[in-house]
Amino acid sequence: MSKIIQFDENAAKGIERLYQTPDVVGQRSQMLYALGLKPGQRVLDIGVGPGLLAFDMAQMVGDQGHVAGIDLSEPMIAMTTRRCTELPWTDFKIGDATKLEYDDDSFDVVTSTQVYEYVSDMPAALEEVRRVLRPGGRVMILDTDWDSVVWHTSDHARMRRVMDAWDAHLHDPHLPASLGTKLSDAGFQVDRVDVIPLLNRAYHPNCYSFGILFAIQNFARQNGIDPTEADAWATELRELGDAYFFSINRYLFSATSR
Ligand SMILES: C[S@@+](CC[C@H](N)C(=O)[O-])C[C@H]1O[C@@H](n2cnc3c(N)ncnc32)[C@H](O)[C@@H]1O
Repeated sequence: MSKIIQFDENAAKGIERLYQTPDVVGQRSQMLYALGLKPGQRVLDIGVGPGLLAFDMAQMVGDQGHVAGIDLSEPMIAMTTRRCTELPWTDFKIGDATKLEYDDDSFDVVTSTQVYEYVSDMPAALEEVRRVLRPGGRVMILDTDWDSVVWHTSDHARMRRVMDAWDAHLHDPHLPASLGTKLSDAGFQVDRVDVIPLLNRAYHPNCYSFGILFAIQNFARQNGIDPTEADAWATELRELGDAYFFSINRYLFSATSR
């Protein structure tokens, strides 16, 4: 049975909380700045999730523009629809990244953040992006490489076992390393790639690693790590005090449809 996380009601609420921490708000601001959307533009957000990015993009394109979003998860679509209820130039529906239900050349910009790492058929997904983008349109994709994690620990072997188990929560935990090639193969010109690091030097409820630590602990307990070991791993990190240190890299790809 696949271990890939399904975004049910609880997972959707967890992601909404996690993505409102200052760490992820900062990451989103960098993406919005890089996007530089203009009033009137038509945007599609693939795997729209809780809709935080879609809401901000809708403000940028204004009521002469359009923001559409799809997601496999019904609770995510419900959350995003509620968030954007006052913005009638938005439209969200359940859909699959590999089968977009939009006409050819429908959008100026396509975005997708933290989604393609869950998708097994990337050639199909990128072919769909190219089809729905107008010629010369832009795609911006942000994903994590889980090998980029640095977490202070006295037990590196245990850390490796837990993080190896966590790798199974998505399809490709190292997508950024191959994404440039995948975009080129799909007919895009890669214009730039930026790295966005998140860094936590203290453990507190409003940091990214606070939420992700819980998620990893729970996932590891249910997916091959002895619960006692998963709990000991989490307890060590929570009790590090001033010695706490966590960082992870996101990678932001900007490409043009040729
Ligand atoms: C980690 S969340 C990211 C949500 C959002 N993009 C953000 O950054 O706030 C991943 C999302 O991708 C969605 N997803 C995963 N596979 C998908 C697919 N094949 N098609 C559409 N959505 C998908 C999940 O349902 C989930 O909402």
